[in-house]
Amino acid sequence: MASVPVGQERHLLSVIKRLSFCCTLGEVTEVVCHAARELTGADGVTFILREGDNVYYAEENAIEPLLKGRRFPAANCVSGWTMLNREPAVIEDVYKDPRVPIEAYKPTFVKSMAMIPVRAEDPTAAIGAYWATHHRATKEELDNLQMLADATALALRNIELLSDLQAALDREHQARVEAEAANRAKDDWLSVISHEMRTPLTPIHGWLQLLLEKRLDPSKTEEALRVIDRNLMAHTRLVEDLLDVSRMLSGKFEVKQTIVDMRECVTNAVGIHEWTARQKSVSVNLSLSDHPYRVIGDSDRICQIVYNLVHNALKFTPAGGKIDISLTSDGTQAKLSVSDNGVGISPHMLPQLFRRFQQADSSSTRSAGGLGLGLWIVQQLVEKHAGTVTVSSPGEGKGAVFTVRLPLVTKPVSDAPSAAI
Ligand SMILES: Nc1ncnc2c1ncn2[C@@H]1O[C@H](COP(=O)(O)OP(=O)(O)O)[C@@H](O)[C@H]1O
Ligand SMILES: [Mg+2]
Repeated sequence: MASVPVGQERHLLSVIKRLSFCCTLGEVTEVVCHAARELTGADGVTFILREGDNVYYAEENAIEPLLKGRRFPAANCVSGWTMLNREPAVIEDVYKDPRVPIEAYKPTFVKSMAMIPVRAEDPTAAIGAYWATHHRATKEELDNLQMLADATALALRNIELLSDLQAALDREHQARVEAEAANRAKDDWLSVISHEMRTPLTPIHGWLQLLLEKRLDPSKTEEALRVIDRNLMAHTRLVEDLLDVSRMLSGKFEVKQTIVDMRECVTNAVGIHEWTARQKSVSVNLSLSDHPYRVIGDSDRICQIVYNLVHNALKFTPAGGKIDISLTSDGTQAKLSVSDNGVGISPHMLPQLFRRFQQADSSSTRSAGGLGLGLWIVQQLVEKHAGTVTVSSPGEGKGAVFTVRLPLVTKPVSDAPSAAI
């Protein structure tokens, strides 16, 4: 342990106190350079940082400019030597010591120097003191520099801890912000879901009341029952969609493996929408060839694919519009195409439509309701049947075409449709 005269001791203590208040590297290097000059009476001081194989002259305090801002290979300069060898260097004549990159010092006032590593066990920095005359650093000067280096090591450690702490706080803050956003999104979706669930229940309740209280003209009974039936179906569909999503996400979703004639699925699914299409004055044209389109899969689920696509086409096609549904084949694949001349889709939305909860950001979509699950479910179902689904649209207001391709059974099979395989 180095001994220091009493006056110097007070000075050192005040430097240590100043260092302990430093919060940034810049503050530390400034305090150190200033204190090192005062404690040694040197004409200049530099603070050097280790950067891998290089050293960086980060700060200086001197009678004339020294090396601030410059970098040297650690193997080629005195500060590097000090850090690599973990020991001080005392150089009385810089022109005679091979460790000194003399070209760098020629333009400066430096004739002699002393260099001390910071954190001797594994140096990450060094403090250099320089004199404009030939001077051999005294034991007292070296002791002072050493004590300053020890205090600096602590200050650097403090800064590391502070920055670790700050990073941890930032991470914690970021996690909290994300959790709050996720929570808000969940709340938003819960309110959308409850709204969508309530929507079909309101007319059911209204018409049932009229029927129960016998306040309805008997000629209207059939209409009432149809409205109730339609809304019950919509409600059931919604609940089933949510259950499907939950099963699909938890990997508990299975499809049957039977031989299915796609023509039946298409005819059934389109049939379910006939009434709505008529009410909405949208014409639906179905084009099917005579021969069967055999695919392997689950007929209910293939029906659901067609149902969802036609449901969307109807939902996004205004009165007077037209929907064309066709089933064709290229010999290996069945190609189902559902095209409409409705509201269309803008090019930037096209790649996102199959995401869960995704709806085009237009007022028509919002007023049309829905949860943005239909196409995601279609994609999951199509993929479960080893097929593909694509969408194209010439743009907003110009209609859309959804195309599903499923592999056809090409080998001869029993004629019985839906035979388990
Ligand atoms: N035929 C279509 N024409 C225009 N946009 C469509 C069509 N089908 C789907 N979309 C767009 O894709 C979005 C997602 O559809 P979907 O997943 O079925 O959810 P939802 O019908 O509940 O909105 C719709 O909100 C709409 O913006
Ligand atoms: Mg939909």
